[in-house]
Amino acid sequence: MGESSRSRRFGKAADILVRQDSPYNAGPPPRAAASFLTPADLFFVRNHGGIPEIDPRTFHLTIEGRVKRPFRISLEEIQRLPRVTVTATLQCAGNRRQELMEKRPIPGELGWGTEAISTADWGGVPLRDVLAVADPEPEGRHVELIGLDETERHGERFAFGGSIPLDKARRPEVLLAYEMNGQPLHPVHGAPLRLVVPGWIGARSVKWLTRINLRESPSENYFQAKAYRLFPPGVGPENVVWDDGMMLGEFNVSSVITSPADGETVAPGDTAVRGWAFAGERRISRVDVSTDGGRSWITAALEPERSRWAWRRWEARVDLPPGPCEIVCRAWDTAAQTQPENPEQVWNFKGYMNNAWHRVKISVG
Ligand code: MTE
Repeated sequence: MGESSRSRRFGKAADILVRQDSPYNAGPPPRAAASFLTPADLFFVRNHGGIPEIDPRTFHLTIEGRVKRPFRISLEEIQRLPRVTVTATLQCAGNRRQELMEKRPIPGELGWGTEAISTADWGGVPLRDVLAVADPEPEGRHVELIGLDETERHGERFAFGGSIPLDKARRPEVLLAYEMNGQPLHPVHGAPLRLVVPGWIGARSVKWLTRINLRESPSENYFQAKAYRLFPPGVGPENVVWDDGMMLGEFNVSSVITSPADGETVAPGDTAVRGWAFAGERRISRVDVSTDGGRSWITAALEPERSRWAWRRWEARVDLPPGPCEIVCRAWDTAAQTQPENPEQVWNFKGYMNNAWHRVKISVG
């Protein structure tokens, strides 16, 4: 199957950037930057395995483990519970891995540019409403989430999964979602039911969610116990001790220039520089733009905050003389944290959480 017919089958636009055919992984083309909400046909897709075929009429979610009242609930029953909407940005921990790969190779991982991030209105039921019925035991401090898709690692087949601490799971923004931008969720995004964990790495927003298991400790699933952990720069596949890695959860502060695009030619003089900024659990307080490699900075104008869980888009005006030019941006969050200058400072062998200053090289003339 060709790339564009595969994309059509998954409800995606013909110009979506396909990073991998199988499993299908794709991200929005630059035109998506025009909208605050990412249209569903441009929303990025990150799959570790195939897309399971699920009959919504027989689908059930099971809640079990360290709970006083384990139970099963059908999709219809979930949809009868009070529905809420949360506008949230989803970002993959591997977003901007390509810039890390340019410094040192990262074999076996997807070379995402800046496109593994998108924003939607998610409709569904707060996870805490369902957890309250199950009534977690005091030991049930971690909420394990298991999907219906299967993936293979090191000769073993298993379901995608992970966990979040109960404290986060009980927050009102964490949703069992069955709608995206007012429409039923598409199978490629986890229909009939997925979790959405705003502010946290995309991997915890488990798609095709079928089982919730309360545990004393974090999930032992590969995608929690091994993948999506952060290691120091000297660690690689040859000397990794998986348990020593930092389990990833909430996002760091990051920003990206969406216009002008890298390699573009623009006219000299007053130029608009635009982009997004996102700070996970915290909020964006400022975005700086520099045209002299960070010696001096201009403060960008931030769009009003539309959701506490979504990216902020921004614009700065710069005066560009003719010649080659590099534009740089960095964001600050409400904890006064900012982005590191270079990807070398955050390089890790799995290629996660790159939030270095974003740079575009353009020609002015
Ligand atoms: N859930 C399941 N069941 N299988 C997966 O492969 N990928 C995760 C997460 N949930 C994944 C999953 C990752 S790494 C990300 S970034 C998000 O889904 C992406 O969600 P999207 O494809 O809807 O953009």
